[in-house]
Amino acid sequence: MRVSICIGSACHLKGSREIIQKLQSLVKANNLTDQVDLNGAFCSGNCVNGVCVTIDGELFSLSPETTEEFFEKEIKGRL
Ligand code: FES
Repeated sequence: MRVSICIGSACHLKGSREIIQKLQSLVKANNLTDQVDLNGAFCSGNCVNGVCVTIDGELFSLSPETTEEFFEKEIKGRL
């Protein structure tokens, strides 16, 4: 599973760095480093709602507060 987190300036201001750190530690804590490939991505023009994160091309909008829920539901829930 390929998960890309936007590191463009608008998303950066909304906390993309924090989201990346949270996802990295969640992936590690759940021993999923072999299955989940975390990447940075450039602005895809979806900065309106929140930090733009894609899973295999499917778009989600996150904030640092919703990152854990996203991880449980969309990442762990799909494996
Ligand atoms: S800066 Fe993230 S989608 Fe535009």
